[in-house]
Amino acid sequence: MTGVALTPPGLAAPGTAGAPYEPVLAIADLPAGALVRVTRGDLDILLAHLPDGVVATDDRCPHMSAPLSIGRLDGCVVDCPLHNGRFDLATGETVQLPTTGGLDADGRAHATWSPAGSEPKPEPAGRKADARRLTRIRRLRFYPVRIVDGMIEVALPRP
Ligand code: FES
Repeated sequence: MTGVALTPPGLAAPGTAGAPYEPVLAIADLPAGALVRVTRGDLDILLAHLPDGVVATDDRCPHMSAPLSIGRLDGCVVDCPLHNGRFDLATGETVQLPTTGGLDADGRAHATWSPAGSEPKPEPAGRKADARRLTRIRRLRFYPVRIVDGMIEVALPRP
């Protein structure tokens, strides 16, 4: 039977403590290995069916907000379609920094890089370079999930 993965300590999404649960998707529509976006108001939620169970996080890359729901899931790790960042949906941690480099979740600086087989792109100058350098890739935040009568329910902050 499908279960729910544990929320990593300290990584509950803001406003979710005591928030009401809402049904968002039938579990039958989220088979193992699937990524699905559901939207409530201006909140885009990523539902992922990992080997450990179902998780819900923002459908926004923690780098520059691209939709992770169109990434590829490999075990617990999703790759972002925009700058090759890779993120662990079970732990909230970055597995691979984006090609643009920047600051990791602990504030350490990382250089730009190019995927194997790609020519290095010219570095931008001025404010664009500063923006890349100072962009911090945060840990993912998670929404509490439960499964009731075949429906995935997510605790969503009140607007
Ligand atoms: S927006 Fe996802 S890696 Fe840049």
